[in-house]
Amino acid sequence: MKIAVFASGNGSNFQALVDYFKKNRLSATIEWLFCDQPHAYVLQRAKKAQVPSTCFSPKEFASKTEYEQAILEELANREIDLIVLAGYMRIVGEGLLSIYENKMINIHPSLLPNFPGLHGIRDAFEAGVEETGVTVHYIDRGVDTGPIIRQEKVVIEKEDTLATLEQKIHQIEHQIFPEVIAKIVNMGDVNK
Ligand code: GRF
Repeated sequence: MKIAVFASGNGSNFQALVDYFKKNRLSATIEWLFCDQPHAYVLQRAKKAQVPSTCFSPKEFASKTEYEQAILEELANREIDLIVLAGYMRIVGEGLLSIYENKMINIHPSLLPNFPGLHGIRDAFEAGVEETGVTVHYIDRGVDTGPIIRQEKVVIEKEDTLATLEQKIHQIEHQIFPEVIAKIVNMGDVNK
């Protein structure tokens, strides 16, 4: 199985995946990193890990449709089976969905359906809830609404600050995201 990772920023989840794939024998490879932000740190991580990467942004295209068409061409050339969104800060459009529906998974830093959107960790912290967590789910046409594959809870302690909560969440993300992907790979078919 050939996997592409999409990311927009730091790329700590991309790194966790690369490290996991190095340590464990899986019948899959991380073939490609796609990034929409030219200065994102994840591009340096990809270079270091020797994962081929491409970066372009929607600004360079007349429309989102053309932008996604360009991504789709890259995906087809590389025969990508599964897209893993790891901090890809864009709403996926119809172009990608039409080809990769049920073959695109995302990680979100809250217990969905609670706290969807860009600031899942901060929103949960500011809401004063006692627990939040991490969700891995398939992408559908909504924002953070697709079928849930796995969730893990994180308790918000009285002494937690936003920074310590972020740390806890990321730690869980780095643990469960590779596990979920390994499970999908081991099933041999992204839709079984
Ligand atoms: C993660 O918290 C992920 O859940 C969210 O974006 C963040 C990406 O972090 N979708 P990183 O770039 O992987 O460090």
